[in-house]
Amino acid sequence: MSSEPGASDRANEFRQDPAISREARWFPMPELVTVRNAVVSDAHRVAELCGVLGYPVTADLMAERLARVVDASEDTVLVAVLPSGKVVGWLHASERQLLEMGRYAEIMGLVVDASQRGLGVGRELIAGAEAWTAARGLSDLHVRSNIARIESHPFDRRLGYVKVKTQHAYRKALSTNAAR
Ligand SMILES: CC(C)(COP(=O)(O)OP(=O)(O)OC[C@H]1O[C@@H](n2cnc3c(N)ncnc32)[C@H](O)[C@@H]1OP(=O)(O)O)[C@@H](O)C(=O)NCCC(=O)NCCS
Repeated sequence: MSSEPGASDRANEFRQDPAISREARWFPMPELVTVRNAVVSDAHRVAELCGVLGYPVTADLMAERLARVVDASEDTVLVAVLPSGKVVGWLHASERQLLEMGRYAEIMGLVVDASQRGLGVGRELIAGAEAWTAARGLSDLHVRSNIARIESHPFDRRLGYVKVKTQHAYRKALSTNAAR
């Protein structure tokens, strides 16, 4: 992570500033959001936030997907949780391996509840993914971002990610009954 002041630093400054009224301090503080590993029972909220990303999915189908990845050795799914227990963001990262590049980690999905953006939640999720990546002995964490997700580009840059290329993505629907 960068050495710039993080969300927790800013929140502490905010709290210590006597000029800020007691009422104002009731705004959610980033450090009150905790990041933990997802469990299958998070499926409902993870599915809702997936809908925010533009990929609507039922909680049952998300539970099946989570069950496949939460214990997979090459994946991590992190959730950001308010003190109330409400999940307000999630991140899925996975270890990848390319013949031409070797091993690296990649963020496969990331979303923060629209009502909680700008509070440092995304930064905390990325910090968790970076710690997971480092713990696996990997030196690079990649992220791809749809050009249409305009808020993600300044976010990625702010967190120290450098644009390395622009791609077209192709897909072909095959006539199989493959699992979703
Ligand atoms: C992108 C996204 C995850 C950011 O989450 P977030 O919790 O709002 O981000 P944070 O509050 O942790 O912001 C971290 C830094 O990025 C900056 N940042 C975040 N969104 C920004 C925006 N839209 N414009 C400019 N800077 C932004 C913040 O200012 C902050 O910098 P600072 O700490 O120096 O102030 C969130 O906007 C989101 O879920 N978007 C929709 C889905 C998406 O785009 N996912 C990413 C696909 S890879």
